[in-house]
Amino acid sequence: MPGTIHFITLASMFFWSIFLLPVDSPRPEGCTASGCHETLMGKATVHEAAADDCETCHESNGNEHPGSQGAEFKLVEETPDLCFQCHDGPEKGNTLHSPFEEGECLSCHSPHSSNTPKLLLAKTSGDLCNECHEIDDEEKSSRHPPMRRGKCVECHDPHQSAQSSLLKVGIPYLCFSCHKDVEKQENEESVHPPFEEECMECHEPHVSDQSWLVREPVPDLCYSCHEDMKEQLASSPVVHPAISERKSCLGCHVPHSSSHETLLRKKQPGLCYRCHSDSRKIGDKIRVNIRQKVENSKYVHPPVEDGCSTCHAPHAGAFNFLLPKEFPKGNYTVPKLASFAICLECHDPEFLQIPETDSVTEFRNGRKNLHVVHVMKEKAMVCVDCHDVHGSDNEHLIADKIRFGKWEMPLHYKATENGGSCRPACHVKKTYQR
Ligand code: HEC
Ligand code: HEC
Ligand code: HEC
Ligand code: HEC
Ligand code: HEC
Ligand code: HEC
Ligand code: HEC
Ligand code: HEC
Ligand code: HEC
Ligand code: HEC
Ligand code: HEC
Ligand code: HEC
Ligand code: HEC
Repeated sequence: MPGTIHFITLASMFFWSIFLLPVDSPRPEGCTASGCHETLMGKATVHEAAADDCETCHESNGNEHPGSQGAEFKLVEETPDLCFQCHDGPEKGNTLHSPFEEGECLSCHSPHSSNTPKLLLAKTSGDLCNECHEIDDEEKSSRHPPMRRGKCVECHDPHQSAQSSLLKVGIPYLCFSCHKDVEKQENEESVHPPFEEECMECHEPHVSDQSWLVREPVPDLCYSCHEDMKEQLASSPVVHPAISERKSCLGCHVPHSSSHETLLRKKQPGLCYRCHSDSRKIGDKIRVNIRQKVENSKYVHPPVEDGCSTCHAPHAGAFNFLLPKEFPKGNYTVPKLASFAICLECHDPEFLQIPETDSVTEFRNGRKNLHVVHVMKEKAMVCVDCHDVHGSDNEHLIADKIRFGKWEMPLHYKATENGGSCRPACHVKKTYQR
């Protein structure tokens, strides 16, 4: 408040012009009289020691004052020992801030008075620090709020500390002192090991080009420790497009802790439905609304109820659709059992092997195995040409519509007591009867 300071100065000038004490008085009043060192003590924060007595620190050389060109006074002791007469010096075992260690108290403090609390020489403590450190950068997209407020000293001790980097409190407690809600996350079921104490492995304390003050963009941040994951993704023929979505790993995982195992944001299938709950167009392909199939269908393929990961890897894999075993893409394939390896994990392969039967499949006309007819021929039909492996309103998981590229062909399937019928576009209505 410049007005106040002005008032104090004027008031003291008026006061001393009446009493006119001798100018060589050691009392502050004498030394700071009008025309002498009046500004020295005139600022908002006054050093208590200087307010008492100038001679606490200055002693006369015996030369005439004023008039001996500055050779009239010397300090009773050099800094920093002068200051240590009344203030704590370095403590054993502490790391010392270089200018403190060098005794350069006066590069940061005025010994007399200042307009900044703690007798600082700059307008804020942050400005002071930035005179020697280029830590802050207003250009960065993410600046930690204490930085914006110029409050380096909320985290650092300007003199000395038992912690590394002159921190006032060790990590993570320093962070928890302001982030109480984050501290509570340590009590969750699944805790990411580096979250326990290595906040700085992921975060910048000051500023960052990334949001959330992270050191690197995700997924690179994650790869810095999960190198094997990076290699696995690079060497896999099929990678889940979720990894290259904007949030990447964070589309499914949380970085600190979670009430679900493996740091997942949600349990399956809810986790998967975050992105598989609509039928948006992706390129020239219509994305399948898996959630709708599973939640709204009369019949759901039983393994789907056990979780999507029964059949799909979350990150990457060697086979189409992130399946653990072979399954063809498209509507036709070669007539080998191996093409359908994933289905044959659970379904006995006989229904594709025995052409005449009255037991291994219900899909038969008389004894003629229609699975063999459709699947084990040169231009082999794929299971999804008739079935929906997730869910369907038709019995036996027969699909309503079959996709041929962009075209969706209705099957018009009807189950009957002893067989069924269908009327797809590729042939007239056909009926089978066991
Ligand atoms: C706590 C110790 C202390 C007290 C008390 C003190 N000074 Fe100083 N003073 C210093 C130090 C340290 C310097 C800097 C000396 C140097 O740079 O070598 C200084 C420097 C000065 C200077 C030189 C010019 C300047 O601004 O740096 C003047 C003049 C001065 N003091 C006057 C006073 C007066 C008047 C008082 C009493 C109102 C006073 N001092 C009280 C420590 C003190
Ligand atoms: C004769 C004792 C004495 C000496 C010598 C002394 N101080 Fe002080 N200092 C005080 C007292 C008393 C206070 C006010 C009480 C406190 O904060 O500890 C104070 C307060 C301070 C403060 C805090 C001001 C505030 O606004 O809270 C700083 C900074 C400071 N001194 C720096 C110095 C420096 C730098 C030196 C050496 C150049 C020095 N002092 C020498 C006695 C002294
Ligand atoms: C790099 C700048 C810097 C140097 C060098 C420095 N100080 Fe400080 N000092 C500060 C800052 C900043 C604060 C205010 C801290 C705060 O607000 O928490 C401070 C606070 C103080 C205080 C007040 C203590 C308190 O806890 O309120 C004293 C006394 C003090 N310093 C004395 C000294 C002495 C003596 C030296 C030299 C041996 C010295 N300082 C060197 C920056 C410095
Ligand atoms: C007069 C110059 C100067 C000022 C002002 C200054 N520093 Fe420093 N600081 C240094 C020097 C020199 C070093 C040691 C060399 C280095 O690591 O850059 C240092 C080192 C540091 C370190 C690293 C310490 C370590 O052990 O790793 C921190 C943290 C730090 N300063 C914080 C601050 C803060 C906070 C402020 C403001 C309160 C500040 N500095 C003001 C000169 C200064
Ligand atoms: C929110 C707490 C916080 C604030 C505010 C903060 N720092 Fe730091 N600072 C840290 C932490 C934590 C480290 C240690 C980083 C590490 O271990 O990687 C650090 C390290 C440093 C270092 C040494 C390493 C380096 O990055 O060069 C300097 C110098 C430093 N800070 C200066 C400052 C200055 C200057 C300010 C104010 C402009 C400031 N800090 C504000 C927490 C903070
Ligand atoms: C002096 C208080 C203080 C300390 C200490 C502190 N922070 Fe913060 N931090 C804040 C405030 C205030 C915000 C903004 C409001 C919020 O998100 O809570 C913030 C925000 C953040 C954010 C979100 C940034 C963004 O882009 O939205 C991260 C990450 C963060 N802090 C990490 C840390 C870490 C790591 C530490 C320990 C090194 C730490 N903080 C220590 C006060 C602090
Ligand atoms: C594995 C990397 C990693 C570690 C370790 C980590 N964080 Fe984070 N943190 C992040 C990411 C990424 C975000 C962005 C939040 C999101 O998208 O869910 C974040 C967000 C934050 C936020 C802002 C959002 C919130 O939850 O309030 C704070 C504050 C924070 N972290 C503090 C900490 C603290 C404190 C520690 C250490 C105890 C820590 N972080 C450890 C990666 C990490
Ligand atoms: C500082 C190193 C580090 C970073 C950075 C890191 N992690 Fe981790 N993470 C670990 C360690 C250590 C483990 C435990 C051992 C393991 O499973 O490899 C782990 C385990 C995990 C787990 C398995 C947890 C469980 O309960 O089984 C997941 C999921 C995970 N990290 C995801 C991430 C994601 C996502 C990121 C990026 C936001 C990330 N990690 C960044 C070190 C790190
Ligand atoms: C589509 C959701 C999803 C995405 C995106 C995702 N994960 Fe996972 N992640 C999972 C699931 C689900 C598991 C649990 C797998 C299990 O239990 O078999 C898992 C497990 C993990 C594990 C534990 C070890 C393992 O392989 O089982 C780590 C580590 C991991 N993920 C890291 C990452 C990293 C790093 C990224 C980003 C490159 C990432 N995840 C992206 C869903 C995802
Ligand atoms: C963050 C968004 C996101 C989440 C969460 C997500 N996915 Fe995906 N997934 C995609 C995108 C984008 C595609 C590519 C478009 C499409 O096929 O729908 C995709 C494609 C797929 C594919 C086809 C891959 C291929 O090669 O054709 C499968 C299978 C799949 N996801 C399974 C899952 C499973 C299982 C989960 C849950 C563990 C899951 N997804 C969670 C975004 C996500
Ligand atoms: C019995 C194994 C199995 C289970 C369990 C399963 N899927 Fe699939 N999924 C497949 C097969 C086989 C395909 C490839 C054929 C197709 O497109 O329908 C596929 C394809 C997909 C596709 C890609 C669709 C496309 O055409 O691009 C997505 C997305 C998908 N599944 C998500 C899920 C989700 C989410 C769950 C859990 C609710 C789940 N799957 C459960 C076997 C399964
Ligand atoms: C993890 C085991 C498992 C896998 C893998 C699996 N299924 Fe199933 N499937 C079952 C179970 C269990 C049933 C219900 C009992 C039954 O009908 O055999 C079932 C039922 C079916 C039905 C409905 C039968 C009816 O009459 O209602 C069809 C069709 C089907 N599966 C097709 C497939 C196809 C196609 C694949 C490969 C893409 C496949 N399944 C992979 C376990 C699996
Ligand atoms: C041309 C259409 C069509 C194709 C292609 C097809 N199915 Fe079927 N499937 C059916 C019909 C129709 C039924 C229902 C038979 C009944 O109960 O009336 C059926 C029944 C089933 C059943 C129940 C048990 C049984 O055999 O009756 C399973 C399991 C099955 N199919 C799996 C598959 C698998 C795996 C593939 C791919 C290798 C496949 N289907 C290919 C039409 C097809």
